Amino acid sequence: MPSARPADPSRRRLLAGAAAAALLPALGPLTATPAGAADPADILRRPIPSTGEEIPVVGMGTWITFNVGDSEPLRQDRLEVLRTFLALGGGMVDSSPMYGTAEEVVGWCLERLPAAETAGLFSATKVWTTWLMRDGPQQMAESRRLWGLDRFDLMQVHNLEDWEDHLPTLADDKAAGRVRYVGVTTSHGRRHDEMARIMERHPLDFIQITYNILDREVEDRLLPLAAERGIGVIVNRPFRQGSLFRTVAGRPLPGWAAEIGAATWAQVMLSFVVSHPAVTCVIPATTRVDHMRENMAVLRHPLPDAALRRRMADDLRAL
Ligand SMILES: NC(=O)c1ccc[n+]([C@@H]2O[C@H](COP(=O)([O-])OP(=O)(O)OC[C@H]3O[C@@H](n4cnc5c(N)ncnc54)[C@H](OP(=O)(O)O)[C@@H]3O)[C@@H](O)[C@H]2O)c1
Repeated sequence: MPSARPADPSRRRLLAGAAAAALLPALGPLTATPAGAADPADILRRPIPSTGEEIPVVGMGTWITFNVGDSEPLRQDRLEVLRTFLALGGGMVDSSPMYGTAEEVVGWCLERLPAAETAGLFSATKVWTTWLMRDGPQQMAESRRLWGLDRFDLMQVHNLEDWEDHLPTLADDKAAGRVRYVGVTTSHGRRHDEMARIMERHPLDFIQITYNILDREVEDRLLPLAAERGIGVIVNRPFRQGSLFRTVAGRPLPGWAAEIGAATWAQVMLSFVVSHPAVTCVIPATTRVDHMRENMAVLRHPLPDAALRRRMADDLRAL
């Protein structure tokens, strides 16, 4: 198990407003994406509350984007997306047996990357049982085979499906070293009450929920509860499955974007999400290397403070 580390050194990077503006020249061209491998000491990380292990605050999702089947050209494209992610300091890769061929494609890509390039991988997948597949342990073994791993860093119960059955199995797997962390996920507001009840009664390392600059319901209850219970938070759908880009289409970036080094709307949206103190990691999904570079640049940007966060949300709501 990883050793515990000091509490939240990432706060050093929580710069905003005048302070951030004053520092911008010293920090250099914040909008530029790093050309080569990231210096791990220089990227924004957050500790996993249950252990203190730090992970980069930007990870990646694989829903739809890595579900490319047998197509060799598409697999090669995704290989470059994953290679770029890892080279720029990325850690968490999130998938699920629900995502068609995504797990298989992730495994195919990992197999083609040298060990030195995958050293920072934080593997996260899910158990997702339906009437077709009720055997959680068998499904998780299949996921390990597809990814080519002996154990996952994180195993989550997908959409809270059959969580009563899976959580005891995951606790056993954690004790036996088959998985390092356990969690539960949802992307539906209607499951939030159930998720809160699980968070209150069961030991969890992570929850995964939807949060973005326009969908902020989780700020009222789930994010404070996660902070209070020492549960890490993974944020899915930071771009509302991409539809937020239609909301901002043709709109120039507001002046405050420069204060957080954001050169694009994607960077504004990701900075908003990861600047919430209860958030551990955000997992945007992309099929494109240029979008991956854009998203990963946020790991080197200063974050907005509470006042700027309010302004960002107000301005986006007003569009
Ligand atoms: N219940 C659950 O457990 C659950 C539910 C939902 C999601 N998730 C996880 O969360 C991940 C993320 O959520 P999501 O995939 O639904 O949606 P998302 O990350 O909010 O949006 C993905 C879309 O954003 C676009 N995009 C990414 N970066 C961009 C950029 N820099 N500029 C412009 N467009 C950009 C992508 O298009 P391009 O390909 O063109 O970049 C893609 O269409 C999923 O992949 C999955 O791993 C889990």
